Amino acid sequence: MSMPLIDSFGRLHTYLRISVTDRCNLRCRYCMPSEGLQWKKREELLSFEEIERLAAIFVGMGVNKIRLTGGEPMLRRDFPELVARLARLKKSGLKDLAMTTNATLLAGQAALLKEKGLSHINISLDSFKPERFEQITRLSCFDTVKAGLHEAIAAGFSKLKLNMVVIAGFNDDEILDFAAFASEHKINVRFIEFMPFKDNDWQIDKVVTFKEMKTTLDKHFQLSPAKQEAGDVARDFELAGGGSLSFITSMSESFCSSCNRLRLTSDGSMKSCLFYPAEINLRDAMRQNASDEELRGMIRGCLAGKPEAHPPAEEIAARDNRSMIEIGG
Ligand code: GTP
Ligand code: 5AD
Ligand code: SF4
Repeated sequence: MSMPLIDSFGRLHTYLRISVTDRCNLRCRYCMPSEGLQWKKREELLSFEEIERLAAIFVGMGVNKIRLTGGEPMLRRDFPELVARLARLKKSGLKDLAMTTNATLLAGQAALLKEKGLSHINISLDSFKPERFEQITRLSCFDTVKAGLHEAIAAGFSKLKLNMVVIAGFNDDEILDFAAFASEHKINVRFIEFMPFKDNDWQIDKVVTFKEMKTTLDKHFQLSPAKQEAGDVARDFELAGGGSLSFITSMSESFCSSCNRLRLTSDGSMKSCLFYPAEINLRDAMRQNASDEELRGMIRGCLAGKPEAHPPAEEIAARDNRSMIEIGG
């Protein structure tokens, strides 16, 4: 293995998020601008061979966890085939091969993906009320999503996580219902503080903080702090009786000091930080016949520019970063 991926602040990077498409079949308001977004052309996207090559290089540099994201990753044609190809890296040090999905295409596929080597699934769902789901996503497919979610639970993915972006005055009245769902199905529900991205209608007063959510939950559930794993973005709590709740506190308590994440966009740019606009395009280098050694040099160069922490929320909101749908979270 080549030198580990350590940045200028001593943080070891072992987790790579790969966006496999910028497209999504939903139109979540908090994730994408309402207009002006153009899907990338097919030839702009990394091919499976290119994704596989880069993933192998990153694993060779110490990455042991890969998460496939989008847009919606399952929209990528032959997605199970990509999972199978990447799962081969488990022989070279990859431990977790995960995906974050909106679950619209999961029904009928969950067991197959597990068989192909996918080890973890995180599902994004922000409301259990069909009309509200439609208001957020601008599509009426709540039943399909629910079917996908239940299938993933039935397929027995270990540590299944349900991501809920909590928005004040919009869905924060459902926090208790989500906690009850975690308890009933013995899964993990993660309450995510709403983060600012390009034109996503973010305002500071729409953020419900970890402390506020925890105060509400403590009145109805018994939560005890769980053991944290290095690099976790969430604060985890076990629920008495089974299931767990977590909080992603990006806005109220940043967790940058233990960050272990790197990102690849669907068009092959590496990003060292979710909120930092600088990128390095590895796809173009590969298409100009760069060697693995040259690519490793570019990866280290990108990592060297990683900031120590993200700036305050208002500053992020004003930044010209890509939108969430393009970065993949
Ligand atoms: P695990 O691997 O299960 O811990 O999942 P994850 O949190 O890495 O991934 P997921 O795609 O489920 O993202 C959940 C939320 O965490 C989303 O709102 C992401 O935008 C946010 N998130 C993921 N990585 C980072 C990060 O590096 N910084 C910040 N601030 N938020 C992040
Ligand atoms: N703030 C917080 N989380 C977000 N996600 C998308 N946009 C935002 C935002 N503005 C979440 C999705 C998905 C994950 C990849 O990122 O709900 O679960
Ligand atoms: Fe890491 Fe940047 Fe996220 Fe902070 S904001 S945890 S530095 S990716």
